[in-house]
Amino acid sequence: MERVKSSELKDQLFKLTGEKKPPLFFRAPGRVNLIGEHTDYNDGFVLPIAINLGLRAAVLPSDSPQVRVRSLLMKETRKFFLNQLNETRKTNTWLDYLQGVGLELRKEGHKLKGFQGIFASNLPVGSGLSSSGALEVLTELIFESTSGFGLASLEAVKLCRRAENHFVGVDCGIMDQFASRFGRAKHAIFIDCRELKHEYVPFPKDYKAVVLDTGVRRELSKSSYNQRRRECKEALGFLKKYYPEVKALRGVSLSQLEKHEEDMPPTLRKRARHVVKENERVIEAVDLLKRGNLEGFGKLMNDSHRSLRSDYAVSSKELDKAVNIARGLRGCVGSRLTGAGFGGSTVSLVETTQVKGFVGKIEKLYSEATGFKPKLYVCEAANGAKRIK
Ligand code: GLA
Repeated sequence: MERVKSSELKDQLFKLTGEKKPPLFFRAPGRVNLIGEHTDYNDGFVLPIAINLGLRAAVLPSDSPQVRVRSLLMKETRKFFLNQLNETRKTNTWLDYLQGVGLELRKEGHKLKGFQGIFASNLPVGSGLSSSGALEVLTELIFESTSGFGLASLEAVKLCRRAENHFVGVDCGIMDQFASRFGRAKHAIFIDCRELKHEYVPFPKDYKAVVLDTGVRRELSKSSYNQRRRECKEALGFLKKYYPEVKALRGVSLSQLEKHEEDMPPTLRKRARHVVKENERVIEAVDLLKRGNLEGFGKLMNDSHRSLRSDYAVSSKELDKAVNIARGLRGCVGSRLTGAGFGGSTVSLVETTQVKGFVGKIEKLYSEATGFKPKLYVCEAANGAKRIK
């Protein structure tokens, strides 16, 4: 998808407001997670990149308590009132992300000012590239500028996550918002979700992260996601009988799990196995990446997918097909589902010189195998959200 130009955003803003003042511009990227899936809410490790697809906004601050935004992607204008935030109801639309962020900022005691804005996006919605996280991070940045306060990046990230947990009602971890705000060009972000510390690891310079959107969404993905969270809590509850000091599945080692897993209910055992092993994979993957061992890194991506399919049960027929096809193509070192799963996208690490052939072949083979037309995005590691001067 093409990026909407600043001049276009400006024209659209003039159409919306009738005012010819110079707007403020902002951007917030989506993310692709290379490895470490469903580990963030278990206090574990993740390795995402912010990507060169995302949201852009042109905004005019106003003195009224109204927030009024036109989304070019959704082709609609929506609004809410900051002075009515406490009674604000969910609309089950994209506006909820803005309202949620407003509400959390208000709870922190920030005095918010309204604005009018045009939001544009070349980030597909619902494909597992974190359009929601990007929208929250974008909104929070806009409020910082229009209302005249500043938040430390980590505080902003935590607040955006709370907006999604409390208002939108998805019990997500912190990875998406973190990646959108902390992204760095040419680097992956190794995040320790317990300590909330991160380290930038150079993204291999001769490779691209190729995303394939399967075009298939599972209706109940929100509730299935929340269900996985509950299962992790139950698994932890079980293991706490033996290891009372453990606060999250992150704190359980594989040998501790293996000692007791025979007695665990089968579903909980599988969920815990995925999380414990996935954390180990991320640490190993970071080490391999630093040493330039892409083949080893790719194998871990493949293992991660296998575990997400069999133990965590968040894959789908189409995701499985896509990764199997990808692995057979020249230049691809590894492929896995990325994001929450339940439909959505896969990420394949592909040598830059082979990307063109890879994209052409997988488009054809995937359509033949599934009957769905996939969408492909060639992604690079990009910078995090910011106000564009
Ligand atoms: C979604 C959530 C993240 C993370 C992933 C799975 O993207 O928003 O917090 O849990 O799923 O790894």
